[in-house]
Amino acid sequence: MQRNQGKIRREFVLFLYYLIPRLVVSPPLTPAMSSEYEVTPISDAQPLEQSGPQPIIQTFSLRKTYRTGFWLNKTVTSLQQCSVQVMPGETFGLLGPNGAGKTTLLKILLGIAKPSAGRGFLLGKPLGDRSAKEQIGYLPENAYFYDYLTGWEFLRYAAGIFQIPPQVQKRRIPELLDMVGLDRKTAKKKQMRRYSKGMLQRVGMAQALINDPKLVFLDEPMSGLDPMGRYQMREIILSLKEQGKTVFFNSHVLSDVEIICDRVAILAQGQLICEGTLDQLLGTQTQTYQVKGRAGDPQILSELLVDFEMQASQWHGQLQGEPYTFLSKLEQMDGTLTEMKMVRQSLEDFFIQQLRQRGIHKSR
Ligand SMILES: Nc1ncnc2c1ncn2[C@@H]1O[C@H](COP(=O)(O)OP(=O)(O)O)[C@@H](O)[C@H]1O
Ligand SMILES: [Mg+2]
Repeated sequence: MQRNQGKIRREFVLFLYYLIPRLVVSPPLTPAMSSEYEVTPISDAQPLEQSGPQPIIQTFSLRKTYRTGFWLNKTVTSLQQCSVQVMPGETFGLLGPNGAGKTTLLKILLGIAKPSAGRGFLLGKPLGDRSAKEQIGYLPENAYFYDYLTGWEFLRYAAGIFQIPPQVQKRRIPELLDMVGLDRKTAKKKQMRRYSKGMLQRVGMAQALINDPKLVFLDEPMSGLDPMGRYQMREIILSLKEQGKTVFFNSHVLSDVEIICDRVAILAQGQLICEGTLDQLLGTQTQTYQVKGRAGDPQILSELLVDFEMQASQWHGQLQGEPYTFLSKLEQMDGTLTEMKMVRQSLEDFFIQQLRQRGIHKSR
């Protein structure tokens, strides 16, 4: 009993030790810092009027600054000048190295975190609006699932939050389980603490879709999955796209993004550095051609082609730039072209190039 009291007293003193500096000694915000916390009033703000279809997501110069350190006197700027626009039905991929600010942006869009400055709209409503939240689904990056619930119980719980009537739940839960590829019996019988990472991600995806949302936010949906799991997650996202849902997802797995997304944006050190369709981003780069042929002068060919290789009289290599000059030179040396195809720069190369151009060589 006495030992318990001693323990409680010690914890109370420790708590005070933690609290008092924050309440009493915490320095006031300097003018420079306080300006970081100015939130553009959003109650009377309106999305920009545009002719044609209205964006489902629209943000203007969002900024997020966190106060850190024991005295809360240091600041970390996670996001700055972030303006994005996503149209209904689009699959939008937000790419960026670790610490780029992807989750921060997603949390602001979802109304979980407040922007320090800037404003935005979701489904035509200011960020954080409750009626917009009813129409969105969210799969968090590191979701915490209730270990001792079965997948089925968890989905019923999620459905309850949206006040979905029990008879609708009875139909929707098995439908969603089939869609995400989770066995109905397992979902009913097994507690989630016994699920693999892939199974948890599937339950998480089913939970994100329980309210049949118009707009789905997925934070790193492929992370930690094996190749089969990633493939299946990709298929699920593609099926959402077919159903006309808008998908906004964060990822650093570029190959997945390349297959799934209509439009991508790259975020680095809190700033959007480029945004567009894959054709817009990758098509503007210097074009490279994979060429194959026979005969000709190996010496000249090796100077014209990168990774030039010749076996017997057959050769292949990569041509950068103008193909017509190459063709006329080939004709002069009596060579023959048997194949020529354009090789597009991969999103991965583009991504690395964009970061390097801005002097970013490692993630935060
Ligand atoms: N609650 C927080 N308090 C302080 N700093 C934070 C907080 N959340 C995120 N950050 C910082 O903001 C930056 C961006 O984080 P995050 O949005 O999680 O990046 P990403 O999702 O791209 O990996 C990181 O430097 C991170 O340390
Ligand atoms: Mg993240």
